[in-house]
Formats: sequence, structure tokens, C-alpha cells
Amino acid sequence: RPVRLADYQPPAFLIDTVELGIDLDRHRTRVRSVLRVRANPERQAPAALELDGDELKLLSVKLDGRPLPADAHEATAQKLTILQPPAESFTLEIETELDPSANTKLMGLYRSGSAYCTQCEAEGFRRITYFPDRPDVMAVYTVTLTADRDDAPVLLANGNLQQKGEIPETNRHFAVWHDPHPKPSYLFAVVGGNLDRLSDSFTTMSGRKVELGIYVEPGKAGRATYAMDALKRSMVWDEKVFGREYDLDVFNIVAVSDFNMGAMENKGLNVFNDKYVLASPETATDADYAGIESVIAHEYFHNWTGNRITCRDWFQLCLKEGLTVFRDQEFSSDERSRPVKRIADVRTLRSHQFPEDSGPLAHPVRPDTYREINNFYTATIYEKGAEIIRMLKTLIGADLFAKGMDLYFDRHDGQATTIEAFIACFADVSKQDLSQFMLWYAQAGTPEVQVQTRYDAEAKTLHLDVAQKVPATPGQPTKKPMVVPLAFGLLDQDGRDLPIRLADDGWAENGVIVLDQEQKGFTCTGVSARPVLSVNRGFSAPIRLIADITEDDLFFLARHDSDFFNRWEALQKVTLRELVKSVDAIRAGETPATDPRLISAFASSLEDQSLEHAFAAQLLTLPSEVELTLEIGRDIDPDAVHAALLSLRQEIGAGIAAQALERYRSLQDSGPFVPGAASAGRRSLRAVLLGLLTASHGKEAAELAATHYRSATNMTDRISGLAALSRIPGTEREEVLKDFRARYRNDALVMDKWLSIQAAIPEEDALDRVKRLMKEPDFSLSNPNRVRALIGSFAGGNPTQFHRADGTGYQFLVRIIDELDAKNPQVAARLLTAFRSWRTLEAGRRARAEAALKQLAGGGNRSSDVADILTRTLG
Ligand code: ARG
Ligand code: ZN
Repeated sequence: RPVRLADYQPPAFLIDTVELGIDLDRHRTRVRSVLRVRANPERQAPAALELDGDELKLLSVKLDGRPLPADAHEATAQKLTILQPPAESFTLEIETELDPSANTKLMGLYRSGSAYCTQCEAEGFRRITYFPDRPDVMAVYTVTLTADRDDAPVLLANGNLQQKGEIPETNRHFAVWHDPHPKPSYLFAVVGGNLDRLSDSFTTMSGRKVELGIYVEPGKAGRATYAMDALKRSMVWDEKVFGREYDLDVFNIVAVSDFNMGAMENKGLNVFNDKYVLASPETATDADYAGIESVIAHEYFHNWTGNRITCRDWFQLCLKEGLTVFRDQEFSSDERSRPVKRIADVRTLRSHQFPEDSGPLAHPVRPDTYREINNFYTATIYEKGAEIIRMLKTLIGADLFAKGMDLYFDRHDGQATTIEAFIACFADVSKQDLSQFMLWYAQAGTPEVQVQTRYDAEAKTLHLDVAQKVPATPGQPTKKPMVVPLAFGLLDQDGRDLPIRLADDGWAENGVIVLDQEQKGFTCTGVSARPVLSVNRGFSAPIRLIADITEDDLFFLARHDSDFFNRWEALQKVTLRELVKSVDAIRAGETPATDPRLISAFASSLEDQSLEHAFAAQLLTLPSEVELTLEIGRDIDPDAVHAALLSLRQEIGAGIAAQALERYRSLQDSGPFVPGAASAGRRSLRAVLLGLLTASHGKEAAELAATHYRSATNMTDRISGLAALSRIPGTEREEVLKDFRARYRNDALVMDKWLSIQAAIPEEDALDRVKRLMKEPDFSLSNPNRVRALIGSFAGGNPTQFHRADGTGYQFLVRIIDELDAKNPQVAARLLTAFRSWRTLEAGRRARAEAALKQLAGGGNRSSDVADILTRTLG
């Protein structure tokens, strides 16, 4: 059953060209596929040609134009076997029939709203036609689409449009699309439907004119202008920073409302979850705008890192995903504020990837086995994958990194390749041995790095003792030491960076030391007074740092570190230390006592007018419940975690109230909404202050939040007000929730915010509210965005209620997963990952979580997606 990297074999047969004829019909879509097939010269051809299928209905099959006799092939819904294929190249013609309307898995060809669309990554193409559905089989595709003119006036496929016209004497029309770039089947896409188009164009650096189109539901083209702007900026950026140019005459994006993931990079025809395309000041928040910018960039950047150079097999998924996330992060950093983006990315990593990496679902960035590839589109492969690229750049330096990228594009263009081949490019240009670095791909688990310092006043040296430990993870009990690049600096008493001179290595280049053994010592010389150490600057390595830094030093760093990431990190660290103590106190029935220095540190962050607004907002944001949970590590009581955070928030709120209110007021802006980083930053600081000012949950707090809500002239402020008010029980809250619904009930994406805010209310009746909302017309179990907004926010964003001590939260989730599994296994499996840290819970909850998981495992027909997560979660 499981697929293993070690079993990889090149394909037995190659496909040179694919000609597809797709006759779109809501229930009976016909697909005629003509394949030019030849045996792979690099392999001894086996006796039979096997083509993948998934729930397919075969109508006919011909070889070199002649119908294949029954004894020359075998067909099931999952596989088509041609028993004795010719030794020379031949033509295979296969006809299948499918029902797009019945396709609730949203993989393959399905209906979304008024459109037909496809999702083929990773293994969806086999739900359209029989094919060697693996990324190392690359072919040139020509697609002829036909459809009813009224049903699908727009017909799109990959590549360039060759021809279109009417089919005489019928109500149907056709379009022929040709994609000259050989591609794997997972990048195939077609779209048909009644869609509006936002048009623009872009001229590449070599002068190629590209027609740009964004297709959306009728009437919504006005909401695609920001996405279009982000697309053009992405195209410019990839030329400027990576020297990569677009390579077709058209680039189309289609927004659909039913989509399992964020978006898909199909060659020349990206298909998007409409949440990552549609935005207007009245309907989208600043976070939505930032999300659109990064996903548009991500999918566009895939054209080179993913499409021109693709993956040999799905074990190499991070070859394209980690690299492309790195690229989109860099793009956003250049377009917005680099330190703020870095902080946001590290927050994401810590709240999604770290828990994954420390629980039963931990897996290497390049796994060596999987049972269901859909379950490997994870934070580890995406986010930790991006961190590996970032470390590589830190280790070899920006110039060699750029050279290595150029070599990679040069050497592997047009290929389906591997992580080894990618890393070899950087080893070649840097002449460094990167074999130990490869362990980042092979070993799961977040390394723990201990740093101990010894200052010798007489010798004027600072000695650093650095040690690493990589925790055991499923299937990997023991680990080898990794290569950990640690950017660091030393601050003098005035907070200025001291020049760094290392005893053995001379100048530490760019202030980076590299820990590549279990333990290593570094000595900085010429240090005339005890300095303050700032280490893992910019989060140079994705590790858990355990440094012997005193609270005093952390407060000092929070004020003075020239590295803004570490300024933020220092304050987070002290805050976490305080919170851990509070949790213990609360569990012992005591009242937590907060170090007054912490409140002053927050006050001075607020006072410092020189800070960027968005950065100040990050400084003033407390760690999340997930981060605190992770810090504690075991025997978790989610109620105590929640109480500790709430109490600290209230204390800070009370401690800085006067100042905060004044600043809150001064940040108001009555001008028109602009989505740029500067004004978004101002709004985010104002929202964070609102959160602190309303943390008391008193009557005045309710009034302040309600006024914020009512006076809002854009969705960002509206949602900040609603979110703050949602934490304050009372009639005001219920009124405002009603008001919100009345305003936006026709806009599903906006209603998702309404669902998700309510699902996260940390009160006793949360589960009842969620159940009630499930019955509202605003909700549907068939739409992934609705499911994520309501059920996902409950399971992932309401820790006290999901982890209710009575186990009803678990029971509820398990029932939903049971029902959803029959419809959409991918989304069901994703919801199930809410249990990924169940073993770290206190004993009572742990037992209830286990019971719920076992109950799910025991019932009904489980999809391979859900079965895979279940087995691994239970361990
Ligand atoms: N390649 C897409 C992206 O990262 C994700 C598609 C994942 N789809 C899936 N069904 N697993 O942009
Ligand atoms: Zn991607």
C-alpha cells in the first residue's frame, strides 16, 4: 500500500503528445484522449502498459486506430492495462465519460458555481482520463473543448488559444488550446463557464507581449483589480530578482468558489480559490489583500519553480513548494516591510509547522514514504521547506545563492528532477560539501539548540557553548547533528552592535556561526565589557532556541536590538516565560502575578513613535495559545492556557490604558481606503490596541468595540470591531452579529468571516452556536471555505471549547469528519489534523481524544485520506 521513495523507477512508457477532446456537459462529459506513446528507451519495457484511473468509466479504446479486442486490455475504474503494446511508438485513443456535477471531491473535473473547472494536482488527472499520472511523464498537450454556448460561453485551457468557433447547426461552440511546453499531467487544466473577465497586459523584459486575464463570477470583475496589480508586480519582480521571464502569449487566472486548497499553478491557467482573488475595501480585510498578493505571486512564480522545472516524483514536492514559498515570501518582503513579513512568517511556522513537527504527524521535508500524497501538502513541506532555502542562502551568501539558482534554471529547465539535483547546483557554485545540509530534508523534528555564554573580563572574550539535539519523531528514533546557521550579534551597554571577531575563524562572515556538530564552542575576542547576545537573528534557523539569556537582557534586546526580528522575539520570549509561570499558578489555584517590567516593556513599545506601525502591532501582540501550548510541551490544560493569556492581556490593557486610548484615537484615518502596507500597518496597530483596550470585557469595552464596528468604512475595521466585540458576552454582541449578517448575507466570502469569528468564541455555548450556524443557509458542508470557516475555526481556533473536558468538542468533530469523508475526503482529512497534538494534553482530555479517534477509526468506510491521518495520529 504505502509508496516508497526507494522504489522509484523511471516510467516504462513515455507520452510525447496528448490530444484531448472534451465535450463539456453537466452530467455526461465525454473525454477523448489521443496519446502518442513509446517505450522509455532508458528502461526495459515491461510486457504491459498500465494507465492510472480513478472512478473512471471507459467507453472505448483504440490502438493505432483499431478498436482493441477484449482480450488485449483490462479495464477497471482504477486502471487500464494494455496487455501487449507494440514495441514501436503507437497511438492510443481512449474515450471516457464523467459526471462533473456528481464530483464532490473537487478533484478532476467538477462544477463550481456556474463553471466547469479542474484540479489535477496531485492525482486528479486520472479522474478525467486513463494516463500515466505521474510528474515525470511530460507531454505536449492540445485541447479541444466544446460546450453549449449558453452553458459555457468561456472556454479555457493551458497554453495559447489556437482556434475557436461555432459548431454549425448546434447550440455548441469550441476552442482549441495548445501548450507548447511539455508538462506533467498534474498541471493540466480546463475551465468552461459563464464568467466575466478583467483584462490587462504585460510586456516582458525581452519584449514579449502577454495578455493577462482574470475570470470571475459575473459582476465581480471590479473585485479582481488588486489581484491583477499583484500579478503584474510579481512578473516584474521575478524578472528583476530571479531573471525569470514569462513564456506564453497569455496568462489566465480563474477564481472559483469551491476549491480544496488555496490555488493551483496550472500552466498558463491558474485556478484560484476566489478568496485569494476577490477583494474590495468593503469586503476584504488587509489580511485578505496580503493573502491575495502572496498567493498570486506564489502561483505565478511556480511557472519556473514547478512548471518549467518540475518534480520527478511526489516525494520531491518541496522542490517546488518550499522554493516557491521562499520566493513568495521574498516578494512580499520587498513589496512590504521585511521585518514585519519575517515575524508573520515565523508566527505561521510556529503555530502550524512546529506543532506538526513535534507530534504524531511529523514527517521529513522530503518524506520517504506516504500512503496518501494529498496529506503531504503540509506546513512542513511548504513552510519548513522555505526555511531550508533561506538557510541555504544564509550559509553560502546571497551572491552564490543567486548563481546557484541560475545554474538550476539552466541545467534543469524542462526536466522533472530531485532535491539532490537542486542542492548539487549550490554545491557546485559554492564548492561546499552540502551533504550534511541535506539532513534538513531527511530528518523530521525541530532541532533544539542550547546556547550558553561565558564572559571573561580579563581575556576580553565571550565564549559561546552551542549544542543541538534533534528530537525523536515517528520512524526516526535517533538523529544526526544538522547544519545550523546562527546569525548573531553582540550589543554593548548602549545597545550598539559590537564588531565581531572570532578567535579561530577571524571575522565571522555576516555575523553567522555554523553549528554542524552536536556541540561546538565559539570565542569572540576583543570584547571589552560584558555584552548582550542576540542570537538566531532574523530566525536564521528554524529551531527552538534555549539560551541562557536573563530577563533583563531580553528587555534590553526588546528595546535596542538592531535586528528587528529579534527585538520582537525578545519580548515574545519574556512574555512566554511569564505566561508559563501564570499557567502553573492558575493550575495551582493561585492568582498569577506578572512581572511589572513586562508591562513597562509593552508601554515603551507603544511609546516608541519611531517604530513602523505594523511592527509595533506585532510587538504588542501576545503569543498565541498554540505557541504557549508548545512552550509548555506536555500535560496541557487548555483552560489554564487560555486563562493565563486572558489575564495577561487584561493586565497589559489596564496598565497602558490611557496611553493606548490616546494612540488608538490618533491612529484613526478618515481618508479613502488604500490597501498598501503603510495604511494596513496603521489599521493593524489600531486593532491591536482595540484588543488590549477591550480585554477587560466590561461595559465600556463593549461600547468601544461596537463604536469601532459601527464607524468602520472598510471591512478591515469592521472585522476588528466585530472580533473584539465577539469576546464580550452581551446583547451588544448579538445585535452587531445580526447587523453584520444583514449587511453581507449575499456575500459568501464575507459571511465566512462571520462564521469563523463566532466559531472561535471561547464560551461554554460555543458548540451549540456552531451547531446552530450549521443549519443556517450561510453554511454548507459541500463548500470547503464554509467548512474551514466554521468547523475549522472551531477545531483550530477555539482551544477551550474544542478541547472541552467533557469530550463533546471531540465527539462533534469526529461526527462531522465521518459525514464529510463520504463527500470530500481531502477536506475531512485536513480537519482531522486538529488532533495532531492530542498526546500533549492532560490525562483526562487525552483519554477523550483517543476515544473519539478510535471511534472514528472503527466506523464506516474511511477514505484513504482520513485513514492515513487516523493511523498516524493514533500511532
Ligand atoms: N500546488 C498548489 C500550490 O501550492 C497546491 C495544490 C494542492 N492540491 C491538492 N489537491 N493537494 O499552490
Ligand atoms: Zn505551491
